Amino acid sequence: MTAKLIKGTEIREVILEEVKSGVEQIKEKHGVVPGLVTILVGENPASISYVTLKIKTAERLGFKEIQDSQPEDISEEDLLALVDKYNKDDAINGILVQLPLPKHINEKKVLNAIDPDKDVDGFHPVNVGRLMIGGDEVKFPPCTPAGIQEMIVRTGVETSGAEVVVVGRSNIVGKPIANMMLQKGPGANSTVTVVHTRTKDLEGHCKRADILIVAAGVPGLVKPEWIKPGACVIDVGVNRVGEKISEKTGKKIAILKGDVDFDEAKEIAGSITPVPGGVGPMTVTMLMVNTLKSLKFKLGIA
Ligand code: GUN
Repeated sequence: MTAKLIKGTEIREVILEEVKSGVEQIKEKHGVVPGLVTILVGENPASISYVTLKIKTAERLGFKEIQDSQPEDISEEDLLALVDKYNKDDAINGILVQLPLPKHINEKKVLNAIDPDKDVDGFHPVNVGRLMIGGDEVKFPPCTPAGIQEMIVRTGVETSGAEVVVVGRSNIVGKPIANMMLQKGPGANSTVTVVHTRTKDLEGHCKRADILIVAAGVPGLVKPEWIKPGACVIDVGVNRVGEKISEKTGKKIAILKGDVDFDEAKEIAGSITPVPGGVGPMTVTMLMVNTLKSLKFKLGIA
C-alpha cells in the first residue's frame, strides 16, 4: 500500500485563500485590515529568509505589514521599548519577534513583553495557559502545532478516540500538540502519549499509534517497522543532511531529511507528510490565520 501524501503546500493554498477572503470581507465591512509586524534582530540568513516569507505571504493576503529590522547590537532595553511601541499601536494586531535573538538579549523577557492579545506566535505564558485550558479560552495556538492539527483534520483522519503518540517534548511542538490533541472538541478528543529521549520503549509506543507525530530533530529516528499499518504519520523534522546543486536554479541548496524514513514509511502508513513540503509550509500559514483572528477578536467578531 502506498500512503496518501499530506501535502502542506496544497493545504496552505486552500487556507490562505480562506484568510484572503476573510480579510476582504472585514475590509469591506469595517474598513480595516490585519496588521502584522515582524521584528528581526541582526542578519542571521535563516531568520532573514523566514521573515521574508512571512512578509511576502502577509502582503499577498492584503495585510498591513511592517518589517522592522534592528542591528545585532540593539540593547535589550531598546528592543523592549520597540515591542512596547507596537503593543500600543492600534493598527498592529500581531507582533512577531523572530528567534533566535542575540546572546546579550534575554529571549524570555522579550517574548513576555509582547501583549498576549497580539502574541500571534502563541509563545507568551498567558497563551500557553489559555491553550492548556482549551475550548473558548484559546486565542492563539502556536503556529506549527496548529498547522499539524489542520493537516490531520483536512486529511479526514479520525482523531476522536485515536491513539496519538508524540515523539519529542519541546515547548514549540511536542508539548503544545500533545495538549491540543487531548482537548475536548473537533480535531482532538485523542488518547495522547508523549515519548522522549528518556522513554524506555520508544518502538513499542510508536507501534500503537493511529496518529504518529514526530518532532525529535533526529534524521530517520522512526523506523518503518515502528509504524502501525494505515497510521497517519506527521513528520515535523527538517534536518539538513548535506548540500546539492539545484536543478532549477543551479545554486547550492540543503538536502533535507525528516525524522521518519519516508521512502519505506510511505509503503506502510495510511497517510504521511513529506519533507520538505509537509508541515513546513503550515507554520507561516497559521501565523496568518492567527493574525486575522487577532483582528477579529478586537472587532468582537471572532
Ligand atoms: N524562529 C524559527 N521559527 C520561529 C517561529 O515560529 N517564530 C518565531 N518568532 N521565531 C522563529
